[in-house]
Amino acid sequence: MFGIIGGTGLASLRELKVLKRELIRTPYGEPSQPLIFGTLAKHEVVFLARHGSGHTIPPHEINYRANIWALQSVGVTRIISVATVGVIDDEVKPGTICIPDQIIDYTYGRKNTYFDGAGMPVKHIDFTHPYDEPLRKVIIHSAESISKKIVSEGVYAAVQGPRLETAAEINRLEKDGANIVGMTGMPEAILAKELNLAYAAICPMVNHAAGRGQSKNAISFSSMSEASDSDVYRLMMKDVIELIQAIISKN
Ligand code: HPA
Repeated sequence: MFGIIGGTGLASLRELKVLKRELIRTPYGEPSQPLIFGTLAKHEVVFLARHGSGHTIPPHEINYRANIWALQSVGVTRIISVATVGVIDDEVKPGTICIPDQIIDYTYGRKNTYFDGAGMPVKHIDFTHPYDEPLRKVIIHSAESISKKIVSEGVYAAVQGPRLETAAEINRLEKDGANIVGMTGMPEAILAKELNLAYAAICPMVNHAAGRGQSKNAISFSSMSEASDSDVYRLMMKDVIELIQAIISKN
């Protein structure tokens, strides 16, 4: 069964026919909200808003371990994560979706493994390819099948937040090889891998990163917020939902 983790701009899925809501308790505490079970494109899926139902949990305070654990405990085997990002290349127009294939992790102080605590054996997980390649292919082919233009690879820089970056930090991320920057991609990806779940991300590029393109002087908050009346934002989220429906209906 597919699990969908929604981020900013996707705190709920109107297209989901809700069957039930269930608060799951895990050894790591409670997830961001009760899991929402429902049908989408006639298939059963589970939805979770990572920032909570009222968008009140900031990226560094999300209980990522509880979220991923809860999804696995109810039978989710594949996770589609929706996570908005800033785009570093100022030639790329915000409003496009990126399906990243790599991650650089700059976060700190987050609980980023299930393999710790008293009596737990040390375990090192291979993370060469952080996203599940078959699931990435499913997403890319689904986008093709509905003629949605997407960027089919990219290096995701996972930053701590909640503040945005300085222009110099973005220059550094670019030198490191990053293309997009967001605050929630880690440790979600590694935790899913530790639990043997297929995990891939759909990243709507909602703004130019700090100092780039339209964000030369500042990042406009309206471009980043769910309450945004920006057409680009609304159309992009519509694209994201159509893409998710295409993925679910054919797989
Ligand atoms: N930086 C970090 N996280 C983000 C951004 C950004 O520019 N846009 C959306 N999430």
